[in-house]
Amino acid sequence: MNSTIHDIEIKNMLRMANEARHRAYVPYSHFRVGACLKSASGAYYLGANIENMSYGVTNCAERTALFKAVYDGERNFEALLIVSDSPNYTVPCGVCRQALSEFCNPGMPVICANRNGEYRALTLGDLLPNAFSPEDMKTE
Ligand code: THU
Repeated sequence: MNSTIHDIEIKNMLRMANEARHRAYVPYSHFRVGACLKSASGAYYLGANIENMSYGVTNCAERTALFKAVYDGERNFEALLIVSDSPNYTVPCGVCRQALSEFCNPGMPVICANRNGEYRALTLGDLLPNAFSPEDMKTE
C-alpha cells in the first residue's frame, strides 16, 4: 500500500535535506546531494554524499542517512526526500534503491527534489519494481 505524505511535511524534509546537502564531502565531483529519511519513530535522519579518491568507495547521501538510522536501531521508515545541486529531480542510484529495499516498503514515498525547491513524488516500488526479497531466497 502506498503511504501519503503531506505538502507541509515535504517542505520540512526539503529544508532539512538542503541543510544536509551543504555537509557533502565532494572534492572530486563537486556535486552535492542531501537526503532526509523519516523513520516510523518520527525521527529524521540526514545524510550527504561522502566521496573517496577511489571513486567506487563513495557513499551516497541516501545510504549515509539510512546507515545512520539503522545504526541507531531504526528498522521502519515512512518517507525519503532527496535533493542535489541539479535543476533536475534527483533520483536514488540503483545501489541505494537496493539498500533501501532491505528496510522500506515498496509503497514508501520517495520525494525527488531539485535545487529550485520543486519536487516529484514517487515510491520505492516505482524505482525498484520486482525487488529481490527474502521470499526469493526460499529453496523449498
Ligand atoms: N550521488 C548520491 O549521493 N546519491 C545518488 O543517488 C546519486 C549519486 C552522489 C555520489 C557522488 O558523490 C555524486 O553524487 C556523483 O555521482
